[in-house]
Parts: sequence; C-alpha cells; structure tokens
Amino acid sequence: MLATSIKILNEHYQSLNNEGIDVIQGLTRSAKTLPPKYFYDDRGSELFEQICELPEYYPTRTEAWILHQYADEIAQITGACELVELGSGSSTKTEFLLDAYQKFASYCRYIPIDVSRGILKSSVIKLQQKYPTFFIEGLIGTYEQALIKLESTFAASRLIFFLGSSLGNFNPRECDDFLKQITKTLQVGDYFLLGIDLQKPKEILEPAYNDTQGVTAAFNRNILSHLNWRFQGNFDLNLFTHQAIYNENDAQIEMYLHCQKSHKVSLEALDLQVLFADGESILTEISRKFDLVIMQNQLEIHGLKTLKTWTDPKHLFGLILCQA
Ligand code: AVJ
Repeated sequence: MLATSIKILNEHYQSLNNEGIDVIQGLTRSAKTLPPKYFYDDRGSELFEQICELPEYYPTRTEAWILHQYADEIAQITGACELVELGSGSSTKTEFLLDAYQKFASYCRYIPIDVSRGILKSSVIKLQQKYPTFFIEGLIGTYEQALIKLESTFAASRLIFFLGSSLGNFNPRECDDFLKQITKTLQVGDYFLLGIDLQKPKEILEPAYNDTQGVTAAFNRNILSHLNWRFQGNFDLNLFTHQAIYNENDAQIEMYLHCQKSHKVSLEALDLQVLFADGESILTEISRKFDLVIMQNQLEIHGLKTLKTWTDPKHLFGLILCQA
C-alpha cells in the first residue's frame, strides 16, 4: 500500500505574507464581500457535504447521475490520461470517472486539488484503498496555485475536470481569467471537463440555497468562524442571518449574511477593524447559472473545442467535454 500523498502548495503564498489581503479588500468596500474559498475550512467542507444530500439541493445528485450514465463514454473519448480535479472535496462523484478509467487502463494518475486539508486527506486515503493500482496525489491549495504548479509539470495527456458548477462562483471577468489559466495549463490535445448548473426558474433555485433544515445558513455563517480562527477575529455568528436570492438579471444566486445590529469587528492578524451598520450585508457568494450553448461558445473563444455535452432528462445540469 502506498503512503498517503498530500502536498501543500501555498507555502510560497504564505511566505509572501499576503494571505488575507482578499479579506481586507472585501470587507473595506462600501458593499462588503468575502471570497467564497473561505467557506471551506474542515467544518465548512463537512457542511457542504451535508448540503449535497439535501432534498432541495439538486445539483450534486443530478451531476452524479450524468456521470454515472456517461463516465464510460467520457473515458472512451479521451483514452488514458492523467486526471486532475479542481476543488475535489470528498471526490464522491469522481469515483464514477475513476471506475471508467480503470476499465481502460489499469494504471492511472489522479490528482485531486482542494483548499481543505481534512477532506482531501480522508478522500485520498479512501480512494487509494479502493484503487490500489492508481497513483493518487492530493494537492492542498487554491485553483490559481494549482494551475501555476501544473503548468510546469509536463504530463503525456491530461484531463482537467471542474465539477459541481464551482465555475459559478466567478464573475464574468474572473471566469475569463480562470479559463485563460486552464488553456495555459493544457497542451494541445488535452481535455477539460466542466460541470455547470443550468438556468431555471427561481422557484427551484431559491429553495436549493435556503433549505428548510438550515444547513446552508450554517454553511454561510461558518465563513465567519473560519475567519475568526484564521485571522484572530471576533465575529459573533449570532449577529448575522443567512439569505439567498436569485438575481434574474444576472442569472445568479446571491448569498448574503445580514448584520442584525450595528457593531465593530476586529481581525487581529490582519490588523483590521470593520464597522457594521444595522441591516448591512456581506455578499459571501455568487452562484451563476449558465446556458449550455453560450458556455460552449465561451470555451471555444479560449481555444477549448466542445467534443460532446450531456445533460439530465429535466435539463437541470450540464456537462461539457472539450479539447484544447
Ligand atoms: C460549490 C459553488 C458549486 O454554488 O451551488 C451550495 C456552493 N453554496 N450552497 C453552489 C453552495 C450554497 C456551490 N458550489
């Protein structure tokens, strides 16, 4: 049995001592925001796993259904290659792909990348047991750190996959930058597999982000407790309430924390003091909803040609396989 292989990508990043600059930028704006990557400390990743099981939250099980149906076809199209997953989390859905690739090649390299050490470590251990002939190496870091690192490692043939519609967290400009980085990391002939949540009525979307059990609310508020331990903060979670609304103009879910009382918060490690007014809100996440055809065009602009798309019978979710 191979030892669990996990590498930390952010040492350089931390040594530059600019960690948390994005938090300072977000909280000193007139309309306060926080980067959604701060949801995912170990507790946040656990809460996200619970979200994926909620009856209202259809994306995970719908994408899993599509992967279950078509993983063999995906593996057949690409043939054997190195598998790189951005934001792998628990890698649960990934097993459909790993099963499919195992049929075509007994040896396979799988590189899951995530910002949460806890969930990455347990999923690497679990997968290494289930797929003993695979070489599995987890990387702890952000998408940017991972893509920079991957640029410099030449792989014979590579499939990068980005599932769960996490692309929806990027605004259009960030999305563009991200796709540029993807193209830079891929060699001609390499593949990119993208999962996107599709546009649909508010009546389906809003409950998916305002579940009756309050798991999404706990997930949203947990971003503050992550900032508390990471940057020595004193956010009082009880002073903030969760809300998610669908902005139809921009086709995006917007998730907010609304402050219930005017007060001051400090984050000592960032030397930051922030004033909150009664009723003021923090935008903690956007989750954009996409159009399958428009997305294919956008990928094409970045040099990524669509080979095939798949969806579920209700057209809730889409999967696009493209090639550089
Ligand atoms: C992991 C970004 C895809 O936007 O649906 C779920 C995160 N936030 N419920 C999403 C999330 C609230 C999720 N992504």
